[in-house]
Amino acid sequence: MKDSLSHIKVVELFAGVGGFRIGLQNASETYKVVWSNQFEPSTKSQIASEIYEARFGKENHSNVDIGKVPTSEIPNHDMLVGGFPCQDYSVARTLNQAAGLVGKKGVLWWEIERIIREKHNKPKFVFLENVDRLIKSPAKQRGRDFAIMLSSLASHGYIIEWRVINAADYGFPQRRRRVFILAYKENTNIANKIHASVQSDWLVKDGTIAKAFPVMPIKPLREVYISSNLEELTESFNIIGGDSPFENTGILIGNKAYTLKTSSRYNGRITTLSDILLDGNVPEKYYINEQDLHIWKYLKGAKKEKRINKASGFEYNYAEGGMVFPDALDKPSRTIITGEGGSAPSRFKHIIEDKTGRLRRLTPIELERLNMFPDNHTAEASDVRRAFLMGNALVTGVIEKIAASILEVENAKDRMVENAI
Ligand SMILES: C[S@@+](CC[C@H](N)C(=O)[O-])C[C@H]1O[C@@H](n2cnc3c(N)ncnc32)[C@H](O)[C@@H]1O
Repeated sequence: MKDSLSHIKVVELFAGVGGFRIGLQNASETYKVVWSNQFEPSTKSQIASEIYEARFGKENHSNVDIGKVPTSEIPNHDMLVGGFPCQDYSVARTLNQAAGLVGKKGVLWWEIERIIREKHNKPKFVFLENVDRLIKSPAKQRGRDFAIMLSSLASHGYIIEWRVINAADYGFPQRRRRVFILAYKENTNIANKIHASVQSDWLVKDGTIAKAFPVMPIKPLREVYISSNLEELTESFNIIGGDSPFENTGILIGNKAYTLKTSSRYNGRITTLSDILLDGNVPEKYYINEQDLHIWKYLKGAKKEKRINKASGFEYNYAEGGMVFPDALDKPSRTIITGEGGSAPSRFKHIIEDKTGRLRRLTPIELERLNMFPDNHTAEASDVRRAFLMGNALVTGVIEKIAASILEVENAKDRMVENAI
């Protein structure tokens, strides 16, 4: 085995409370986080960063806006990971930049890109997570932002694979659909294997993600040309409109994306909401007040009504379908959102009926379990913040499986080579 793989140095960006780190470390001790960064721009409180430090230590953790961290302060690493906000990735030509093209200020994708671009020793692997909307945005030029992202990673010498995964489709406790993006530097064993593979085989059978999360194809493979000129992509990618050319599964090699629609293939155990519930001892504050029950019912219910726009005074028809109320206990949960905490009635908060027939919200520990975090990982924060942190986090089991697969696929070639010798 190559030395580098007995020890993979990881940099975790947009670390939140460390979902990537937990997943990687559960996969293997090979993964060692050598530097992490977490800064919440919208609040004075830096509770996510404080929790991160409390769990993993203060050493090599940075609580500074990533836009203000020079690349030289970030240690060399083999893998860059992070779940970053989905924003507008278009580029603009600037007069004073020799490089010509820069992304808009404050768009965090360009911080990831900047670190990769400026690092002389570029990471072998980049492992990113985002909302699945990323592969379809923006609405007027569907797929443009993802094309820009793919193209800029390719320009730094990467092959990039992606897959939309709903954690619940593979036995995890929460329905949470996210896009997972893996970039492999040319000259890694995995990149060499991709060059030697038939693209559709890699995507549905032999690839890193396909091995971890089996699928079957439901639409034929399609090729999409991706220009290496970011300005051209900004101006002309999919301007005729229509759907994004990117399906839920794909890979970019050079200028060509190969993409196809797949569906999950899984026959294992299903984890349900009831599997993760606390066994008794739930404090009274999580139970719904009888006097609020009608508000919960109204918010969760189907409705068709006239509403008035407060600003314009304009009257309009409003309609929405009903939510399952209380939430089904025999299925994985719905997606946890950042507003899940607090007692105020809401359409989106989970409400369950306990064994005694009473209705209650989920506790912070239950929210942690839905993301497969250890119990009380976020104990330092208020209940509302704990829910917020879990709404921002990810299902660590997905990271763990992909991380294990990266090691397996990257090392397999070494074994073949060693056997041949
Ligand atoms: C989608 S969350 C990622 C959560 C993480 N994967 C976890 O498991 O908790 C994005 C994170 O980026 C952080 N963030 C936003 N802007 C930032 C910036 N300018 N610099 C550093 N971190 C930032 C947010 O505070 C948030 O914790």
